[in-house]
Amino acid sequence: MKAAVVTRYGSPDVVKILDAPKPTPESGEVLIRVHAATVNRTDCAELRAHPFFMRFFQGLLRPQRTIFGLDVAGVVEAVGAEVVAYKPGDRVFGMCPSRRNGAHAEYVSVPGRSIAAMPEGARFEEAVVCEGAFYANAVLRRIDLKPGHTILIYGASGAIGTALVQLAKSSGATVTAVVATRNVKLVQTLGADRVVDYTAEDFTHIGETFDFVVDAVGKISFFRCRRLLKPDGIFAATDLGPWGQNLMLVMWSLITRNNRVVIPTPRRIDGFVGFLKSRMEAGEFRAIIDRKYPLAAIADAYRYVETGQKVGIVVINVAEADERAQVAY
Ligand SMILES: NC(=O)c1ccc[n+]([C@@H]2O[C@H](COP(=O)([O-])OP(=O)(O)OC[C@H]3O[C@@H](n4cnc5c(N)ncnc54)[C@H](OP(=O)(O)O)[C@@H]3O)[C@@H](O)[C@H]2O)c1
Repeated sequence: MKAAVVTRYGSPDVVKILDAPKPTPESGEVLIRVHAATVNRTDCAELRAHPFFMRFFQGLLRPQRTIFGLDVAGVVEAVGAEVVAYKPGDRVFGMCPSRRNGAHAEYVSVPGRSIAAMPEGARFEEAVVCEGAFYANAVLRRIDLKPGHTILIYGASGAIGTALVQLAKSSGATVTAVVATRNVKLVQTLGADRVVDYTAEDFTHIGETFDFVVDAVGKISFFRCRRLLKPDGIFAATDLGPWGQNLMLVMWSLITRNNRVVIPTPRRIDGFVGFLKSRMEAGEFRAIIDRKYPLAAIADAYRYVETGQKVGIVVINVAEADERAQVAY
């Protein structure tokens, strides 16, 4: 099969389209003919092994797995002996575990528990949404967002940000989104109650306080946002923040038990893909697609995602166009 193979850490130039062995599903696994995947910030971090400590998990000198790609949508080709929920021909979507080869290839084998049947009526490229939503969901679970809560989401136009806006609205919270001018209309259509254009006004002086402030792009600091928080409000970050300060603040929060700063990290995939499917079918979650690339141009997709300017997701169309058209949507 054709695959985007990475044998050493580096820039997008190290990603090569090569022939690789087609995987064989183990007993609890499902072999998927990949139709769509994404290049996202997690893939970019894995490619460059940045931050450095990632090497302790994914390979000290070179990546242990050579095919990346977390998001997948496609058609079941074969199933392992223990799989009863899926059969060849089923349309599925979900996430590939980070320790096994991923979806930047024509085929991928994934555990049955990390996928679900495609949402009713969705196209494959509309279903490769798990990565951003997985992080967003971890944030909302960690802060235990409830109806009536108020939340400010900074950087609401990225993969995590657009997912946060939609899932927070779906939880019944009142959402204020902070984005650049070009993304104001988008976040309004996603349901944000108030939108602040950070290029036109200082979002820290908008005359409101919030139960939660979330930095979805790793660009702001707790100290800058402190005045936006209610007395027992929480600052949640998706990144280590400027000079890694969020890590220090989390440690300080743990020592003092004031719980003011958190960096939620997603743990278990079980049940998450099914949850997202239910939100999509309820019309409460949809893909925001920025650019699409064929697998052969995946290095260009990495280059674009690394700019930090993408809006929502960047799709990799793996199956040939005519083959995609043969599948009834
Ligand atoms: N280490 C990891 O494995 C890992 C994994 C996933 C995510 N993350 C981190 O989580 C964060 C979000 O990830 P993501 O995938 O959602 O990011 P993303 O999709 O790349 O976010 C890009 C969006 O952020 C906006 N943006 C850029 N600079 C901004 C600024 N200064 N203020 C406000 N908005 C800004 C951009 O629009 P405008 O420029 O037009 O505002 C763009 O729409 C990133 O910091 C990423 O590093 C880390």
